[in-house]
Amino acid sequence: MRKVSIVAALTLGFLLFVSVGSRAAEMGKYHYKDFKSPKKCGMCHREIYQEWSQSLMAKSFTHGWDDVEYFKLALPHAQKLEKVAGVKAGCIACHAPLAFLSGDIPPKSPSANTRANEGVSCEICHNITGTTEKVPYNFSYTIEPNNVKEGPRKDAEAPHGTHYSSFLRSPEMCATCHDEASPYGAWVKSTYREWKEGPYAKEGVRCQDCHMYYAPGKSTGMGPERKDIAHHTFHGAHFASKLAGSVDVAIYTKKASVKQGSTLPFRVELFNGKVGHYIPSGSTEERMLWLEVWAVDSEGKKFSIPVTPKGFKGEEYTIADSKAYAYQAMGEILGIKNFKGVKRDGDVPDGARIFRKPFLDPKGRQTICQWYTAKNTLVDYRIGPRETKVENYKWKIPATVAPGPVTITATLYYSLVPSSVGEFLKLPKTEYAPVKVNSVSTVVEVRK
Ligand code: HEC
Ligand code: HEC
Ligand code: HEC
Ligand code: HEC
Ligand code: HEC
Repeated sequence: MRKVSIVAALTLGFLLFVSVGSRAAEMGKYHYKDFKSPKKCGMCHREIYQEWSQSLMAKSFTHGWDDVEYFKLALPHAQKLEKVAGVKAGCIACHAPLAFLSGDIPPKSPSANTRANEGVSCEICHNITGTTEKVPYNFSYTIEPNNVKEGPRKDAEAPHGTHYSSFLRSPEMCATCHDEASPYGAWVKSTYREWKEGPYAKEGVRCQDCHMYYAPGKSTGMGPERKDIAHHTFHGAHFASKLAGSVDVAIYTKKASVKQGSTLPFRVELFNGKVGHYIPSGSTEERMLWLEVWAVDSEGKKFSIPVTPKGFKGEEYTIADSKAYAYQAMGEILGIKNFKGVKRDGDVPDGARIFRKPFLDPKGRQTICQWYTAKNTLVDYRIGPRETKVENYKWKIPATVAPGPVTITATLYYSLVPSSVGEFLKLPKTEYAPVKVNSVSTVVEVRK
């Protein structure tokens, strides 16, 4: 029974996505001028405006990688391959909703400075009235731009109209953009669905509770003092400080002292105690989360220690291998002949465990092109909400290790995009530089 309904949902997703032009009730239904600019709202809501401007919501069309992925890869692909033609408008419906609703498809690039650049603006979230879907995804929001703002309070008195909206305060509102099915029917974003199945939904902890915050103050100079004003920070993976410490790491060894040439077994445990969904989530196709384990001897020599494989299906995708190449679809789209791909795991050292869910294109190759994803259910080795992952190691101590104390360090890193892809597409380094999520060390004594 459950299986049937999943298939039905996917088929529906597919229909919705490819038929964007005709089906999406909202595309081209309005004009840019029907939406006020965030600056106007900021004249009164000064602090909310500043928070929003500093978040990715304000940059969802303009910041480096979005720009490159749409104009260099997705748009040319949509023009070449009928099956993915819908993404020409589809990407824009979530990343530059004003352009989508105004029928400005494809929009001009960010350098032209059109109103597409406003991204996910105040007028989008505060005019969304609901969704056409039972379990929302693929920009299935309904929207009525007008002077009445959907808000969280029943007693607001404003120069514009206000309307209390329980939908605005619900995770389902976020789900209209945060879950996505590809034209091939694969779930390529499922942050809401991950949250819904996890412990936080049962406890009533919403997306808003972790990505916005509530504090005493006023939402405008002219408004009343309130005890719980909603702040618009929306920090996610683009904020190193949000990532830092989101997963706890510990190392356990059975022996405090080992002989050169013998084997030191140990394990590392990782606990996701802060993220309300899987980590990584969202743009899962390109996120990298990996555990490096290094030993440093008393003379400062470094040794990389590989994880011991567990033997599950698809595990090869979760252990770094500098000989593995992937992402060939990028070359096909860019028209590069005999493109062999780029290093699948970028600069991650061989043998490191990677917590990921590989996306495969219709030719079975790993891809970062989420719209060109035919399948991504082979293996899901990310860390779920409140889940603990246990990794085992067996380090055969080489004779070159100097006797004396040896420090073993386990470090969990995150990067938005594999470094090889970042270099290939010439993205700004900040889009793929590794961020430290957590790190712990322990010392063992090595004897002759
Ligand atoms: C001239 C000043 C002014 C401007 C401009 C303004 N607002 Fe407001 N807004 C207010 C006041 C005053 C309140 C009521 C505050 C309260 O009751 O705490 C308010 C409340 C709100 C609320 C909460 C409503 C509720 O039901 O809880 C939202 C949402 C909102 N404004 C959105 C916007 C948006 C979006 C814009 C730009 C299109 C905007 N505002 C422009 C003054 C303004
Ligand atoms: C219990 C707190 C919590 C809840 C609930 C929560 N999140 Fe998060 N979320 C986090 C933390 C912490 C991070 C940063 C670590 C990371 O990137 O996974 C994050 C990251 C993200 C990211 C970036 C993911 C990536 O890897 O690129 C997105 C997008 C996101 N959250 C959206 C949502 C949405 C939508 C919901 C509701 C369906 C939600 N979150 C619920 C804590 C939470
Ligand atoms: C991604 C969606 C989103 C965007 C973009 C957004 N808001 Fe909000 N806003 C919300 C949500 C959700 C709430 C209510 C949160 C709650 O009550 O839990 C809210 C609440 C508010 C409130 C009421 C604050 C209070 O606690 O009384 C005001 C005012 C407001 N937003 C103004 C703005 C302005 C101005 C902008 C643009 C600068 C903006 N919002 C952009 C989602 C958004
Ligand atoms: C109209 C579509 C839309 C809606 C509605 C929406 N988002 Fe987003 N959100 C986006 C897009 C697009 C991005 C990606 C921005 C980027 O990286 O370019 C994003 C990014 C994020 C991020 C990641 C930011 C980072 O630093 O990496 C978080 C967290 C987030 N949204 C939370 C929320 C929450 C919570 C809600 C509901 C209150 C919500 N969003 C509603 C479109 C939306
Ligand atoms: C259903 C809404 C939706 C659609 C359709 C969509 N996106 Fe996104 N996109 C998002 C959200 C939400 C995020 C943020 C997820 C996260 O933070 O991990 C995102 C993240 C991204 C990122 C990562 C940004 C970063 O800095 O890491 C890129 C690039 C991107 N989208 C490009 C595209 C392109 C190109 C298309 C069309 C093929 C597209 N998106 C279609 C909602 C959407």
